[in-house]
Amino acid sequence: MKRTVLLLLAGFLLAAHGGATGIVKQRMDAMVDIGRATKTIRDAIRRSEPDAVRDAAARIAGHAAEIPALFPDGSFHHPSEALPAISADRAAFDALAAKLAAAAEKLASNADAPREAARRLVDTCKQCHTRFRLEKRR
Ligand code: HEC
Repeated sequence: MKRTVLLLLAGFLLAAHGGATGIVKQRMDAMVDIGRATKTIRDAIRRSEPDAVRDAAARIAGHAAEIPALFPDGSFHHPSEALPAISADRAAFDALAAKLAAAAEKLASNADAPREAARRLVDTCKQCHTRFRLEKRR
């Protein structure tokens, strides 16, 4: 029973990432972890746990610093959901990555009164996804 569930889960994860390898897999993993950290932040705010907010925000800031290097030219094809617009408008993409890092750092330093900073952080995800990520699976 447990084994079946695990196999199903493994199959699902593989399908979700479409068998990505190399740098595409690396950045998908980073984004998945950013997604998890964002969920942790939501839960931690609800439970008034500033330390957990701070840790998760710092984790996002760390990933954000790596984003520009994880999206090299020529890596925007299936199974990646990253759009070639990133090559065409790299300055804007890198600026959004920097904005994500700044928003995450700001949240980390405002973990005791996090709501406004958390809202800005999530806005930044949307701004980049709307412009630079294929619209599907949402
Ligand atoms: C600078 C642009 C940018 C920012 C900011 C950004 N993302 Fe992304 N994100 C992307 C791109 C591009 C992809 C598609 C990557 C690919 O498929 O190669 C993506 C993919 C994802 C995925 C799907 C990963 C997978 O393969 O299953 C998740 C989840 C995600 N982002 C969460 C977030 C969250 C949460 C935030 C904000 C806290 C965020 N992202 C901020 C550009 C960004």
